[in-house]
Order: sequence, then structure tokens, then C-alpha cells
Amino acid sequence: MRVLVTGGAGYIGSHAAKRLLDSGHQVVVVDNLFRGHRQAVPPGAPFVQADLRDTSAIEKTLRQHDIECVMHFAALAYVGESVLQPLDYFENNAGGSASLLRAMDHVGVRKLVFSSTCATYGEPPPPEIPIAETCPQSPINPYGWSKLFVERMMRDYARSNDKFCFAALRYFNVAGCAVDGSLGEDHHPETHLIPVLLNVALGKLPGAVIFGDDYPTPDGTCIRDYLHVEDLADAHITVMESLNKGDQRFYNLGTGNGASVHQVVEAVRAVTGHPIPVEIGPRREGDPPMLYANPRKIKDELGWEAQRKDIKQMVADAWRWFEKHPNGY
Ligand code: UFG
Repeated sequence: MRVLVTGGAGYIGSHAAKRLLDSGHQVVVVDNLFRGHRQAVPPGAPFVQADLRDTSAIEKTLRQHDIECVMHFAALAYVGESVLQPLDYFENNAGGSASLLRAMDHVGVRKLVFSSTCATYGEPPPPEIPIAETCPQSPINPYGWSKLFVERMMRDYARSNDKFCFAALRYFNVAGCAVDGSLGEDHHPETHLIPVLLNVALGKLPGAVIFGDDYPTPDGTCIRDYLHVEDLADAHITVMESLNKGDQRFYNLGTGNGASVHQVVEAVRAVTGHPIPVEIGPRREGDPPMLYANPRKIKDELGWEAQRKDIKQMVADAWRWFEKHPNGY
């Protein structure tokens, strides 16, 4: 299939572009390079530097490459930043997606696979965990809302155009780097747990802070569901290949296993051989104690499940890239 990957210079988008090419699809990447890296765009994918809000540039790209499906990753994705700068999130994530849908509508591109998030669920009550797709969506920050708005837009647009089909993939915590070492994770600023710990192992940070150890979890630290970025990319391809006219699909993407912050620190110590000094700090606002997926729906419907469930393996794949690229791309 001829696929436009938005945000294909970013962490998840670049991995998806690579896996698409590896599995025989044709890929065009569009990215505004606000936070993406030109070097992350896999060779073999033509690159267009454009912002999604530039509807005519997107339209032109869709036409020029005769695109059949869009995988839409481009977004701002920091929960904390979204609280401080909500309008940026609504403009970029919701506004950018509306513009993309407009361009697709003009050109007649009818397939969209959208990068949504478990942040659309907010803080589900304990009976809802592990989280299934039926869990009520009630975001607790503008990032989550901006993604939920896009889900809403796609549903409503689909009602007006019965040829349109889409899938919203709600990811849990994405981790790891390309197994062949060709792509990695390079965020500025970096706030995610595993990269922060690997920066400690590289000697770039003296130590890490664990944001609270008084949560109602077995070891007191927050539990998350870490999913390997290549598994995530493969899920996108599986979903894309299964989408048919009129489909409206929603899937949670995770392993179904939770790892606590302490367990992740232990995994990083084991993989890197570095002692990783940590201190316990206060809780970070907006962190739910426990988030992990019920991944059954996508397995039952499409046969997809995560292949790499061991947190140490995800850390090892990430570490290989971080060691070779201590300063990022
Ligand atoms: N943590 C620390 N110290 C750090 C960084 C993180 O203790 O220096 C903890 C956090 O408190 C949290 C866990 O490690 O308990 C994971 O934190 P991350 O920042 O790595 O990831 P989040 O779970 O906060 O965020 C992820 C995605 C978001 C998505 C969110 C959904 O990065 O895009 O899950 O809840 F919105």
C-alpha cells in the first residue's frame, strides 16, 4: 500500500515508517521537524517537510504520491507541557488532525490509522484495570483531550462519508528502539522513565528521581504497561491491512503486563551494569498509580499480540542505541 506517515521523523513514526518499508509497503513521510529528526526518516521514504495545518501542502503530497492510507503520528505528546500550554496541544493535535482530514476528504483518501493514547481514559477506577476499550474515556489533561477530540472527529467524519474507515490505536507506554540499532529515541526535553535512566547510565545525569513510592501498588511505585516500539509498529501494519470500507476500530495496545518504576530501575541496572542511583521524590501530578492494558480485543479480532514482553529486552534494545548515540541523532 502507498502510505503517508505523519510525524515519521519522530520516535514512533520513524519506527513505523521503517517497518512499513521492511514489509513491502511504499512510504512517504511528512513532518514539520519541530521535534522530529530528519536523520530518523528511513532511507527509502521520500520526505516532505510540512505542518499538518498547511492543508494545501498535505493535499498536494497526498495527490502527488497517490496515497491510499495515512498513518497519523504527528503530535505534541508531553502530558505536563499540555497542562501549561493547552492551546498548543489543541492547535497542533486537534487542529492538525482536522486539517489532515480535510486534505484527505478533498483528495479522496479513505483510510486512516491514528495514534491515540491510553491518556484518553484518564484515571480509571480499579475495577476497570486492566483497561479494555469499553472503559469510559475521561482524560485528565489537555494532551488526552486533544487525542480524544480526534477520535470524535474521525467518528463524526465517518458518519458523513461511508467510504472512510479508521482505527484509533490507544497506546500504553512505548519503549525500546529498533532491534537492528538503526533508529532510536531522542526527545528534547526527555522526561520518560527509561531514557532518563539510560542517560544516568551514560553519565549524563548523576541520578534519577522516583516520583513517589507511596502509591497503592505492591512496591509503592507506579505501574505501567511497556510495549516495544517495533511491536507497536507491527500492530499498526496489521490494523492497516485489515481495515475495510466503513470500519471504525478502537484498540488498546499494550502487553497486558505491568512493571513498576522500581522494576524498571532494576532492569536498567541489570542491562547496563550501572548502579543507577535513585532518590525518592514527591509524586508527579497527574500520574495514575496503575495503568495496564487488556490486550484481548486486538488479539481476538486480528491475531496481533506483543512479541517482546520482557522489560529487560526493551531496555536492552534501547541501551544499544543510546550507547552508540549518546548525544541523540
Ligand atoms: N517516572 C519517574 N521518574 C522519572 C520519570 C518517570 O519516577 O524521571 C515515573 C512516572 O512517575 C511514571 C512512570 O515513571 O509513574 C512512567 O513515566 P513516563 O513519563 O515514562 O510515562 P507516562 O506513564 O507518564 O506517560 C506515558 C506516555 C504519554 C501518555 C501516558 C499515558 O509517555 O504520552 O503514558 O498515561 F500520555
